[in-house]
Amino acid sequence: MKKIIKYILIILIIGFIAIQFVNRPDKSTTTEVTPAHITKQLQVPANVEAIFKRSCYDCHSNHTTWPWYSSVAPASWLVADDVASGRKKMNFSDWTALSESKRESRLNEICEEIKADEMPLPKYLILHGDAKLSQADKDIICAWVERELKKIEDANENK
Ligand code: HEC
Repeated sequence: MKKIIKYILIILIIGFIAIQFVNRPDKSTTTEVTPAHITKQLQVPANVEAIFKRSCYDCHSNHTTWPWYSSVAPASWLVADDVASGRKKMNFSDWTALSESKRESRLNEICEEIKADEMPLPKYLILHGDAKLSQADKDIICAWVERELKKIEDANENK
């Protein structure tokens, strides 16, 4: 019996080591702010950007801070997957990658998602307690969303 447990442990350890070499995610990050960045496209006040930075940038920008466990499979795969799908859906570093109508709906969704506590992803908050949004944070973001949507609406009326 003892022998079997020993073999199982050895196999698990070899397996764990082996998967470290499989499918290593590309952990890109940059501090570069190009003209396509949301802060260059919209008027993003410092307090709004601070909230995005703290709670959203890891998955919705190219300024990702990769935690240590993102170097260890299988956690690395899960983290990389969230970042890839987050960026794909809405990348603040590449705001103009979205069509104008998508930008408008994403703005709307930002307020909706945070009010419903669906963003930041609840699993992210387990290890990033400081990313949790207070009611005041949510009010700041939603008021900003409303201002930006109003600007878009006004611009469309004057077209
Ligand atoms: C841990 C990663 C992570 C964090 C942090 C995060 N998001 Fe997301 N977000 C995602 C992923 C992944 C999706 C795509 C989900 C999908 O495609 O169904 C997403 C989707 C969205 C969407 C699109 C919603 C939709 O209709 O699918 C919005 C808007 C959004 N996030 C806003 C935010 C905001 C605002 C923050 C910060 C307050 C934030 N997210 C933080 C991972 C994250």
